[in-house]
Amino acid sequence: MRQYYAITSILLALSVGSALAAETTKPSVARGREIFMKVGCYHCHGTQGQGSGAGLRLAPDPLPAEAIAQFIRATTSTMPAYSAEVLSDSQVADIAAYLGSIPAARSPDTIPALKGLKPTQ
Ligand code: HEC
Repeated sequence: MRQYYAITSILLALSVGSALAAETTKPSVARGREIFMKVGCYHCHGTQGQGSGAGLRLAPDPLPAEAIAQFIRATTSTMPAYSAEVLSDSQVADIAAYLGSIPAARSPDTIPALKGLKPTQ
């Protein structure tokens, strides 16, 4: 009987362990948002990746994670480079998941108060 419990708890520990491992390797929107804020991307690109005077628009419809990683590691422009030691591939994949979760802005024609208004410039 005691052996049965020992085997059961070993199997349980193994399955919880592999579930956690799978969880950490899958890109996560929540983790991506946290990293985007923590390492300062939002300072220049805005909290929704909408862009600002200091950085381009990154979302909606962001570049794929590999392209983001390639750009941020090699940039020599006004944007500081982020090496793989600072931001790992899986952290960049999380950022890409966050940017990919940001919906496009609604068309003004779907907002009653703005419907039919023409831009002034
Ligand atoms: C100090 C301001 C600043 C910070 C902080 C910053 N960026 Fe940028 N980023 C820029 C600027 C400016 C550009 C345009 C650079 C250029 O065209 O050479 C840019 C360009 C990019 C591009 C290329 C966009 C395109 O369509 O070509 C990506 C991707 C990007 N940034 C991602 C990030 C990520 C992810 C972070 C955080 C890890 C970050 N940036 C932090 C200023 C910043």
